[in-house]
Amino acid sequence: MPDLQIKATINGRKVARSAKPHQRLLDFLRDDLNLTGNKEGCGAGECGTCSVFVDGVLMKSCLLPVAKAQGTAIETVEGLARGGELSVLQKAFHKAGASQCGYCIPGMVMAATAALRANPFADREEIKERLGGNICRCTGYQKIFDAVELARDVQNGRLPATALSEQEHAEGDFIGKNVRRIDAPSKVSGKLRYAGDMIMPGMLHVQVLRSPHAHARILLIDTSAAEAMDGVEGVITCADVPGEDGFGVFVHDQPVMARGKVRYVGEAVAAVAAEDPVTARRAVAAIKVVYELLPAVFDADEAMRSGAPVLHDYAPDNITKHIPIRVGDVEAGFAAADLVLEENYSTQAIEHAYLEPEAGLAYVDHDGVVTVVSPSQNITHHRHMLAKIIAKPISKVRFIMSPVGGGFGGKEDMIYQGMLALLAMKTDRPVRLVFTREESMASTAKRHPSRTTLRMGFTREGRILASHLTMICDGGAYGLSTEGVMRKAAILGAGPYAIPNVRVDTYGIYTNNTPSGAFRSFGALQTQFATESTLDMAAERLGLDPFVIRRINAFQDGGTTHTKQRLGKVSLTRVLDALEQGSGWEQGVPAVRGGARSDLGRSDVRPAVSLGARFAAHDKQEAAE
Ligand code: FES
Ligand code: FES
Repeated sequence: MPDLQIKATINGRKVARSAKPHQRLLDFLRDDLNLTGNKEGCGAGECGTCSVFVDGVLMKSCLLPVAKAQGTAIETVEGLARGGELSVLQKAFHKAGASQCGYCIPGMVMAATAALRANPFADREEIKERLGGNICRCTGYQKIFDAVELARDVQNGRLPATALSEQEHAEGDFIGKNVRRIDAPSKVSGKLRYAGDMIMPGMLHVQVLRSPHAHARILLIDTSAAEAMDGVEGVITCADVPGEDGFGVFVHDQPVMARGKVRYVGEAVAAVAAEDPVTARRAVAAIKVVYELLPAVFDADEAMRSGAPVLHDYAPDNITKHIPIRVGDVEAGFAAADLVLEENYSTQAIEHAYLEPEAGLAYVDHDGVVTVVSPSQNITHHRHMLAKIIAKPISKVRFIMSPVGGGFGGKEDMIYQGMLALLAMKTDRPVRLVFTREESMASTAKRHPSRTTLRMGFTREGRILASHLTMICDGGAYGLSTEGVMRKAAILGAGPYAIPNVRVDTYGIYTNNTPSGAFRSFGALQTQFATESTLDMAAERLGLDPFVIRRINAFQDGGTTHTKQRLGKVSLTRVLDALEQGSGWEQGVPAVRGGARSDLGRSDVRPAVSLGARFAAHDKQEAAE
């Protein structure tokens, strides 16, 4: 199909450009006009990071073919700041601290601008409604809504313009004060460049061939057809790794690209660098791989049974890491207890879903230094691993951390940076890789799914005498951060409570699932869910208020944990006091549940996410009624 000739007015300037018929308006703005304030978060109309005005109407540019731009007036976030001065809304976002990672913020600013253009007097409920098509994963929505209300009131004259100005702080007077984020202006104006926004002269585009199989031996990889294609500058497989082909935070068991076998669906097998992404995708499709399917295992308990498929030769029992902790005599503690509870808990895999998908840029500079720019959350470690992978001294490897558009632990593990470095070395040109949302979900680490059995013994007064926790986590196909997550889970396996007899076993297990890795709370969530839910059940069985049973057992200053850590200042009881007061807790043993509780139903108290044990009991009660 012939190229389109697009004429449009963009941010007040007349633009005439040719465009590819398959292009989306999002690509046209980003790739052809370098308006990268317009971000791609999902590519599917769900997140709002790509919001622009087309003839004054807020639209998601990822859903619009470029042909729809013909003859229109388009406004992007870059067009809102006139003469370099931020709009009132942009200033209000800055003032309110409404920009954490910042990736969603240009889209939010656009949606907020649309909201106040539609109704300059919109109340908070209407603002929420009008921003409903935009997602934020890290700022949280309250500050964003505060910012829109602030802008509304300044625009309406209810507040003076000085309400947007910097609050003066005396020299050194910063602790405990709100301080404005110095990088906020670049975020609210769309100027901040994340890795996927960066371009270099002569840059190539990378696409990755991924495994369709969960477990298979690779018999053949034939890249000849891909290499012969016009526009393809380099194709790599594991054969191109010159050094030690293994990375991971603890065990270096993951090859840059599958070596000998694939161990999960979505694992990288080969990568292509080409003049444009379409050619790179075509070349990926031309790579031939012959697999011999192997039996796979998708459940951590099954992977521990004898005879289960083995993922790594060095771990014939599929155990990535077992952390055992023994303190006192748990059986004696249970024997002395008035109440012994044993419960099973499970938690699922969770996707980080940061709005910025993984992206990176790599080049070899004039001194032969291999440079990788990426939103890595662990760049020093990544740098050391990469030096071994590419067999270069550390002085010849540089990592530059680009702005992290949401990480939550998910960008701690090195995933694609090795492929980028190898392609930059092979082609001697800058290369850039930007994951699609689907690719991000299919190939990157999730929170460890867990199954926990917890046995706890209590005196009738509520004192915990013994705790025995066994947690089995599905670590997926590679080690990544699993060992660290198991360590942290074990350290927190008895909760913040002084318990004389403790037995903890946490296991990270290899399976043919997508690898698990670091995720907010790093193993704590899985064990705390079990500990706190069991405490709630014990409180009810013993006729105690749930706050009371926690205060009875809480660590105090100078206490020693089950991992022999001596605690200095412990604030747990103060935290409990604040929680009890702030939540409007109805003191005593819970007698009614859910919305029927007066404390949970109060207008100033959020509906309860509640305590794990309560939902089950509530359901039973409802079922019985
Ligand atoms: S809505 Fe367009 S990128 Fe998410
Ligand atoms: S600030 Fe909204 S996604 Fe990070």
